[in-house]
Amino acid sequence: MKSVLITGGTGGIGTALVKAFVNKGYHAYVTHTHKPMEALSGWLTENQLGEEYVSFLPLNLNNRAEVTQQLSKLLANTNVDVLINNAGITADSTFLKMSVEQWDNVIDTNLKALFSVTQPIASSMVEHGFGRIINISSINGLKGQFGQCNYSATKAGIIGFSKSLAQELATKGVTVNVIAPGYTMTPMVESIREDILDRIKGNIPTKQLVLLEDLANAALMVAESGMSLTGETISVNGGQYMC
Ligand code: CAA
Repeated sequence: MKSVLITGGTGGIGTALVKAFVNKGYHAYVTHTHKPMEALSGWLTENQLGEEYVSFLPLNLNNRAEVTQQLSKLLANTNVDVLINNAGITADSTFLKMSVEQWDNVIDTNLKALFSVTQPIASSMVEHGFGRIINISSINGLKGQFGQCNYSATKAGIIGFSKSLAQELATKGVTVNVIAPGYTMTPMVESIREDILDRIKGNIPTKQLVLLEDLANAALMVAESGMSLTGETISVNGGQYMC
């Protein structure tokens, strides 16, 4: 059975990814920020996921020692075929009003954590001669976004990171690609002020937010592709931004 590790796997996009990969026959390893077991059991039931197909890794991505320890325990007896670096946060503010905490928290979680998660997994993939790394960026890493200097910087950084790593691993059986979702119906987007969200939807050619299912299908397509698909950024944004 193939396996996938999904960071932030119980969040909005994460849950859709877990469901799609499990339905395709993968075992999913899901990181979460120390959620209580009842919450995780509830999440499994709500999403009709059998507990035999999902394993949980409690870890805070900003705690490098904890990430290293959890991943070395996992890699001691498991091959990870697919890694999806999905975890991400926002702390929106115009730049002149942004606090240093808003800046640091977003950079630490969205960008700095890529190092501690990806290095051990990529190293194990190279050892096994196979791997698919998928990094979740955002439309706002491509076009920038009013109120998101911190978030857009991280999401653009993810693309540079992926293009570089793709070159380094291209002869080793490991591909590295990016999926850049547009505005998707998740709690993160639902929390945007209603007037702002209406304006955003009006600017999407499909006139609807991105469907979680469409995102998950793009990730599956990348995971099942051969070595020729590497270093690419695939936009799934309803045509809101084309580049
Ligand atoms: N372009 C130009 N001007 C804009 C603007 C825009 N996109 N958005 C707001 N403004 C203007 C406003 O009209 C207002 O102008 P006036 O002072 O002349 O009236 C001024 O900028 C201040 O705007 P706000 O009233 O909104 O200011 P605020 O301080 O209350 O809020 C904000 C600032 C928190 C950044 C708020 O604008 C906001 O939440 N914006 C949305 C940011 C966004 O799109 N976040 C995406 C989250 S989802 C996500 O990130 C997932 C993903 O990957 C897609």
